[in-house]
Amino acid sequence: MEAIKSYIEQNQEKFLNELFDFLKIPSVSADSAYQADVQKAADWLVSRFGELNMDRVEVYPTEGHPIVYAEKIIDDNRPTILVYGHYDVQPPDPIELWDSPPFEPVVKDGKIYARGACDDKGQAYMHLKAIEVLNQGGELPCNVKFIVEGEEEIGSDHLEEFVRKYKDMLSADIILVSDTSMIANDVPSITVGLRGLSYVEVEVTGPNRDLHSGVYGGAIDNPINILCEMIASLKDPETGKITVEGFYDKVEELSAEYREEMGRRPFDRAAYLADLDMADTGGEKGYSELERASIRPTLDVNGIWGGYIGEGAKTVLPSKAFAKISMRLVPHQVSDEITDLFVKHFQKIAPSSVKVEVRPHHGGEAAVVSTETPGYKAAAKAMETSFGKTPIPTREGGSIPIVALFQEVLGLDTVLMGFGLDSDAIHSPNEHYGVFNYLKGIETIPLFHKNFAELAK
Ligand code: BES
Ligand code: ZN
Repeated sequence: MEAIKSYIEQNQEKFLNELFDFLKIPSVSADSAYQADVQKAADWLVSRFGELNMDRVEVYPTEGHPIVYAEKIIDDNRPTILVYGHYDVQPPDPIELWDSPPFEPVVKDGKIYARGACDDKGQAYMHLKAIEVLNQGGELPCNVKFIVEGEEEIGSDHLEEFVRKYKDMLSADIILVSDTSMIANDVPSITVGLRGLSYVEVEVTGPNRDLHSGVYGGAIDNPINILCEMIASLKDPETGKITVEGFYDKVEELSAEYREEMGRRPFDRAAYLADLDMADTGGEKGYSELERASIRPTLDVNGIWGGYIGEGAKTVLPSKAFAKISMRLVPHQVSDEITDLFVKHFQKIAPSSVKVEVRPHHGGEAAVVSTETPGYKAAAKAMETSFGKTPIPTREGGSIPIVALFQEVLGLDTVLMGFGLDSDAIHSPNEHYGVFNYLKGIETIPLFHKNFAELAK
């Protein structure tokens, strides 16, 4: 423990500089303009793995962005940890809202500011540095395999094929992921639940062309007005419940005991509101903010457009209106089924004056992980040692669809030991990651490897 700490202390500058090099590569998976940079980030990782004395390091090309794979097998009799992370990042937009350029990392007030600082380059890179730390002590306590993918932020479209094809190569005893948050730096937690996702794009067409809003206005329905009405009707104004027929049929209802226990989790509502500069939250009646953001399903418009949005006023009655809508799902809801229910419902509520098209995007299933596995126990013990406090198991609202996939295809449990904070502004301008969190991760992960070697025997 002391040896780990002192190695980290001596190398903290090097660890930060390496992460900065990684963060400088704009590996935005969603935008084809960055394709060469995505490849560059994969190659950069290969070089870093090359310095870690691994047995194998390879880039697997896919129809989309490449997957980086690395492994170090010490002894077939030892347990194997499969680490998963992603090197792709969200687009930096809206770029004008960043206080410093998104791909020029800087440390301010103890935090590293850059796109991907927390999600997930900073968190994924901790796992490489943890191997470096463990290498100082001689042999690794467990065998280790790494999958670092480049398409997590766009739905991991090609990972499933990879996992199915290389099932044998990926055999392991546990999956370890750092791509989630903790409650606070002095309240460590381990994620035991993630939501699923169904994501659709809708297109509402009125007249076959844009029209003069005086000549035709009033005579015909405006597709933007109609889309707004349709979207507004997707939630009951009284209860905040989603009105898509069948949407709640399979929703897991949690016991009063579970909810009570969850309610004891530290949560400062006033600070939450102040941080967001909001006077109130709204949302589904009968559930707290923490519940609404983790154990309850949602329906949200992520983007809406159509008509004239340039400078000044153009009097136009648009031909089309569009929106991107996401639904976060909870255990037992099935992503494809929810998408089908949405498509049927949206077609049904459309008035005869418009044509409606719904295009499904990526989706994924929710995941719940047990606190009774050697993996969870090894993580809890590691955090207990490094933070001096027992971590609290929590469910989170984000999605990592591959967790359910790993369970299905490889039959493996996942440990979601993340070191980010909800306030790290992931997917937003000024994303950041605490230097404390980065170094704490590098300190805790080697302890996980050691504990898992003991507990998984
Ligand atoms: N790291 C996040 C997921 C996350 C964030 C989990 C915070 C728990 C707490 C991940 O990179 C992400 O953003 N995933 C997408 C998945 C989607 C593209 C299928 C998400 O949740 O929107
Ligand atoms: Zn992520």
